[in-house]
Amino acid sequence: MSNQAAVLKEAKAQLTIEERPIPKPGAGELLVRNAAVATNPVDWKMQSTGYFIDSYPIILGSDIAGTVEGVGSGVTHFKKGDRVTGFARVLASKNNDHGAFQQYTVVQECVTRKLPDSMSFEEGSILPMSIATAGLGIFLSLDVPRPPAKQQGGFLVWGASSSVGSAAVQIAKSLGYTVYAVCSPRHSVYVQKLGAHETFDYNDSDIVKKITQSLKASNQQIVTAYDAISEHGSAPMCAEILSSFGGGKLCTTLPYPEDSTKPAGVEVAHTFAARVTLDAQDFGKWLFNEWLEKALADKTYVPSPAIEKVDGGISAVQKALDIHQKGLSGKKLVIPL
Ligand SMILES: NC(=O)c1ccc[n+]([C@@H]2O[C@H](COP(=O)([O-])OP(=O)(O)OC[C@H]3O[C@@H](n4cnc5c(N)ncnc54)[C@H](OP(=O)(O)O)[C@@H]3O)[C@@H](O)[C@H]2O)c1
Repeated sequence: MSNQAAVLKEAKAQLTIEERPIPKPGAGELLVRNAAVATNPVDWKMQSTGYFIDSYPIILGSDIAGTVEGVGSGVTHFKKGDRVTGFARVLASKNNDHGAFQQYTVVQECVTRKLPDSMSFEEGSILPMSIATAGLGIFLSLDVPRPPAKQQGGFLVWGASSSVGSAAVQIAKSLGYTVYAVCSPRHSVYVQKLGAHETFDYNDSDIVKKITQSLKASNQQIVTAYDAISEHGSAPMCAEILSSFGGGKLCTTLPYPEDSTKPAGVEVAHTFAARVTLDAQDFGKWLFNEWLEKALADKTYVPSPAIEKVDGGISAVQKALDIHQKGLSGKKLVIPL
């Protein structure tokens, strides 16, 4: 048996296909034979800028789904042959056995979830990064109480058609919030299907005024906001919207711009998905093993956004990263292996 991997051998290089040994799972870890892997913006950003990378060669990628091939000591919930999805933690661990873009990846039990029989590996592969980023942002950064506690009021999601934003829409809706979503009009119907009460077009130069006026006209307010984009001025606009309702909490996926002031009464927190593999492992365990299991079973959560397959196996990872870097619109790229 061999393990084909897409390896980034030096800064800003193209990925090279190499054979490497099949990794072995340690305590609390599983070895997964990947059947599908998905791309995230951080992958092409790491490749093209070197950010987060301490040394080369490195095997990138965070999203995997496949079949358990072996388990390390102490693993109790999984056995060989289980169909799973998991958060590959190379971003945090810098260990190439933990990168997604290879045939076999070692993942931690705490951030692995069995796939329902009805769910394809492709669908499963788009869950880990989006769920970790949105879930950690909502429950830890914004400090929203976990279910069964129910929430009230308006929750703003900026970038609702994105991978992370579409996850945030679904989680916020499932918690009881009325979700106001920002996306382009071509994704409005989809985002409403995911649970948004109303959508607003981010291309509208008056968007801040439109949102605040529309909500005030119907006696609604936004108390919490999740900015899945955190670029092109979106975070300060979210902060301004919260401020017009007397303040509140905002979670961003990238740091709030240093040259923008935060309005009084608006608290800004940043999410970092890989925390589910570091200091927030207990939270990750709850999110992947309790919350996600229930949400998938009762269909309050569906894999989102739409999947676009990039065929060609491990050799197609570079092509997928190139497509992702040019920009995706309401899609997640998946490479079936
Ligand atoms: N902190 C963390 O741990 C963490 C984890 C994951 C991701 N991130 C970051 O979060 C961001 C989103 O990641 P992702 O995977 O969700 O991205 P993605 O799915 O690739 O984002 C593409 C989507 O964003 C929409 N979009 C683009 N610009 C927008 C804007 N100004 N306002 C509203 N929507 C906009 C696009 O819609 P249209 O086509 O309609 O324009 C498209 O549907 C990235 O910067 C990523 O690096 C951070």
